Amino acid sequence: MTLIKTRKGWEIPESRVTPEEVYTDRRQFMKKLTGLGVGAYALLNGCSENPSQAQDQSVWRSIPEAEGVYPVSRNAKFTLDLAITREDIAASYNNFYEFTTDKDRVWQLAEQFETRPWQIEVTGLVHKKQTFDIDELINTMPLEERVYRHRCVEAWSMVVPWTGFPFKALIDKVEPTSDAKFVRMVTFLRPEQAVGQRTQNWYPWPYHEALTMAEAVNELTMLVTGIFGHALPNQHGAPIRLITPWKYGYKSIKSIVQIEFVREQPATFWNTAAPSEYDIVSNVNPKVPHPRWSQATEQDINTGERIPTLPFNGYGEYVAHLYQG
Ligand code: MTE
Repeated sequence: MTLIKTRKGWEIPESRVTPEEVYTDRRQFMKKLTGLGVGAYALLNGCSENPSQAQDQSVWRSIPEAEGVYPVSRNAKFTLDLAITREDIAASYNNFYEFTTDKDRVWQLAEQFETRPWQIEVTGLVHKKQTFDIDELINTMPLEERVYRHRCVEAWSMVVPWTGFPFKALIDKVEPTSDAKFVRMVTFLRPEQAVGQRTQNWYPWPYHEALTMAEAVNELTMLVTGIFGHALPNQHGAPIRLITPWKYGYKSIKSIVQIEFVREQPATFWNTAAPSEYDIVSNVNPKVPHPRWSQATEQDINTGERIPTLPFNGYGEYVAHLYQG
């Protein structure tokens, strides 16, 4: 297995990060992720991409509320002729700065994070403001699985089967007014549970992101509650996160607690932290280098191979029209 350690060019120096309290043996995790046989997800999908990939029941059955919800059918329109990244690799190479900047330790530091009960407040310029309980939402929305490319601004990528529903389905429920031009999304603020929020006080917590209304209602845009045929584990942004596959991964805000419809373009976490490096639009573009590295290629975390980066991460047919002119 290749676990690449990408140079943290975009990060605050590691020396400024206080060592975390919790750190268990990584090998135990890897051991848990192997040898359990082929799970329900693998059977559903034929698992031809990775026949040896075992599914760890302690990960995908980690919350009782998700019993009976996953796996769900894959939307045939959103599959890829590419190997799906091994789950153990995807689940142990994460960006979730609330816990740590160290990608291969996020899963451990996020393990105890509490994702129930969980509410999502949908507010701002809408006719029907609502606060949703996460499980009511999951049980009433049209869940589907989609295999998407996922491309980080740090020039690594993976191919992942997400389970969720189109963001538009939620937007239709709250009926934005004609004044709503942007959607702002906010992550939890719980320094007592998230060590990174306690120790990295130079970041503008809580994590916040935004899309234009046209981006939010685009058919690619999903609110995601599952991955690999089970509920999202904490390191991937449980219990609900955004996925916009044509944009760099930092737009895909994890563990959302608030969605607000606004008139003016809102500030975003990374644009506030480093405005010259992370813009608000952030579409994947091999021709526009990051100020400190090229975006022409990316490293597939599954194989370690360096592959060409595609404009809009390969999703131009769905979104290029949004940016003309
Ligand atoms: N959301 C929150 N709340 N905090 C974060 O640090 N990191 C982003 C994004 N969403 C981040 C976040 C970045 S930089 C990336 S590349 C993706 O999450 C990584 O998602 P993954 O760990 O599920 O692959």
